Amino acid sequence: MDEREVRLRQSRRRLFLKTVIGTGIGLSLVSAFYVGASLRPREEVTPEKEPLKPGDILVYAQGGGEPQPIRLEELKPNDPFVLAYPMDPRTRVVKSGEAKNTVLVARFDPEELSPETAQHAVEGVVAYSAVCTHLGCIVSQWVADKKAALCPCHGGEYDLKDGAKVLAGPPPRPVPQLPLRVEDGVLVAAGEFLGPVGVQASASACCRHV
Ligand code: FES
Repeated sequence: MDEREVRLRQSRRRLFLKTVIGTGIGLSLVSAFYVGASLRPREEVTPEKEPLKPGDILVYAQGGGEPQPIRLEELKPNDPFVLAYPMDPRTRVVKSGEAKNTVLVARFDPEELSPETAQHAVEGVVAYSAVCTHLGCIVSQWVADKKAALCPCHGGEYDLKDGAKVLAGPPPRPVPQLPLRVEDGVLVAAGEFLGPVGVQASASACCRHV
């Protein structure tokens, strides 16, 4: 075997070893990824984090102690809205562990409501998701002169009499309405939210810098 052939064989051997080692490292990384993924704890959905369901009773979000269902007679037209959580009527678990379950409830004179809003209201009472569609803050303030709901983060305003139409600020769409009914004098969800709750992917991508 001449010297040229020896060098050629050595270079082929080096190439073979590099390929074997590289493939081994690659497979190790892939398997480590899958092992890691399988060991990662799954987020547990506890009863408090269950999503709102039709038939859930609305209870006051504020105030500790026993959950207090919202009674129709306690709401007066044009008073500031109240924040609420759904409560499972069977287990009596209040679903306050998931921000997307936060609901705002207000009462108006029924004739003040737009026809479409009135369809899902009960005796002038309307309910909406309280999660702002801009960046997901809780809509928590009342604008008395406009009878509107205000998001304190960037000044988004929603007209609760008219499908939560956006009156001011950056929210890209209304907060979705929640159909209501009354059972034994208490407010109950008559369906699911009539649209997606909170920030939509495209909106969050566009405005993360805000
Ligand atoms: S998060 Fe509500 S206006 Fe920005």
